[in-house]
Amino acid sequence: MTEKIKYVGNQLFIEEVPAEELAGQYGTPLYVYSGNQISKNLKQLQKAFSVIPGTRILYALKANSNPELLRLISSMGAGADTVSAGEIFVALKSGFPPSTISLAGVGKTDRDIDFALSREIGVIIVESNEELKVVSERAVALGKTARVSLRINPDVDAHTHPHISTGLKENKFGINIDRAGETAKRAVQMKNIELVGIHSHIGSQITEHSPFEEAAESIRNFVLGLAKEGIKINQIDLGGGIGVRYRNAIKHDLLPLEKKEEPLIDLNTLARVIKEKLSFPGCDIALEPGRFIVAESGVLLTRVLFKKKSADRTFIVVDAGMNDMMRHALYSAYHQIVPLRLEKSEFSLVDVVGPVCETTDAFAVQRELPALKRGDLIGIMTVGAYGYSIASNYNSRPKPAEILIEKGSARVVRERETYEDLI
Ligand code: LLP
Repeated sequence: MTEKIKYVGNQLFIEEVPAEELAGQYGTPLYVYSGNQISKNLKQLQKAFSVIPGTRILYALKANSNPELLRLISSMGAGADTVSAGEIFVALKSGFPPSTISLAGVGKTDRDIDFALSREIGVIIVESNEELKVVSERAVALGKTARVSLRINPDVDAHTHPHISTGLKENKFGINIDRAGETAKRAVQMKNIELVGIHSHIGSQITEHSPFEEAAESIRNFVLGLAKEGIKINQIDLGGGIGVRYRNAIKHDLLPLEKKEEPLIDLNTLARVIKEKLSFPGCDIALEPGRFIVAESGVLLTRVLFKKKSADRTFIVVDAGMNDMMRHALYSAYHQIVPLRLEKSEFSLVDVVGPVCETTDAFAVQRELPALKRGDLIGIMTVGAYGYSIASNYNSRPKPAEILIEKGSARVVRERETYEDLI
């Protein structure tokens, strides 16, 4: 539930601020985030995992790397999961201590590796034998020791959208679990490499705890196997992937009730399962959630440009496009859409589409919504994760502004791009 974004009377508020006021003042399309929602979700995770002392939450920057959001997250004691030198740079600038930063990614450039080594970040997560060799060479060249985790691919089905499933043996990620023992043996022999941990990330938007349980079981056996070879591990990172509920983010008598509401992982159960499977003396647990921390905090405000009827469809054309928010175009992802001001009306089936020259440029297809007309303002909900971070300038559209609500007031945390920015 998106507790901090809700209706007061018939008007949508983000914390204490009316969404309509923000759209009027800053224009649309506009990303707005609730700082309190981010803190609330992060605290919920921290509390659930406090049953495993020493657990570290490494926020996955790819979900949303706005520096002001990062500052808030780092101030609450989270570390950072990064996948490029650029993300390490932003994380360092946003207050994450180097030792709390990890670098993952299946295709790191030498520049990424050198950046990570020179900034002495906590750990480099290695995904192949060839990469391990390169990390060792770069560490020797720079006179550094690389703290390395091996990303293993446990061949677990995360039961999520195929585009965001990463833990199956046919996926490009990680080292096949049957081969990873050899890689570990190699790692401990290599120059300037300190093997510190094991990593796995099986996918994203996972809504049941069983795939994590399966992955934890495989990792357990793997770590026990390593111990027999005399290889001791002191951190196990289970990756990100905890899902959120996109349907019925907001409920109201004047809104349709959305069907097929997603199940949610019970965090206490998840923590208990991980504790049972992966408690080894001297070995800490890390998690890399992105979506769970920020998704619910964000809403994309957009204005209806036109209502257009074709033979058998009604299109609501809005001023946000797939370039601003790609999730529907990429994964047919479902996001609740709500009017910023509710009025009593019949619901009807419409397609909510953007202005971009692509048929996939839509936010909802055949969705039951209250009546909408030119000029109305609507909110696309639960866009705090993988919204702005995958926005582009496609069709030469400047990216929207981002607003953060904190301590009861709104401020711009990223300016809207201008036409000049396009050249
Ligand atoms: N760690 C690693 C190694 C990852 O690859 C990811 C996400 C995460 C952590 C964070 O996962 P999360 O907790 O946010 O699920 N663009 C897609 C999601 C792609 C996720 C990629 N990796 C979407 O909009 O659904």
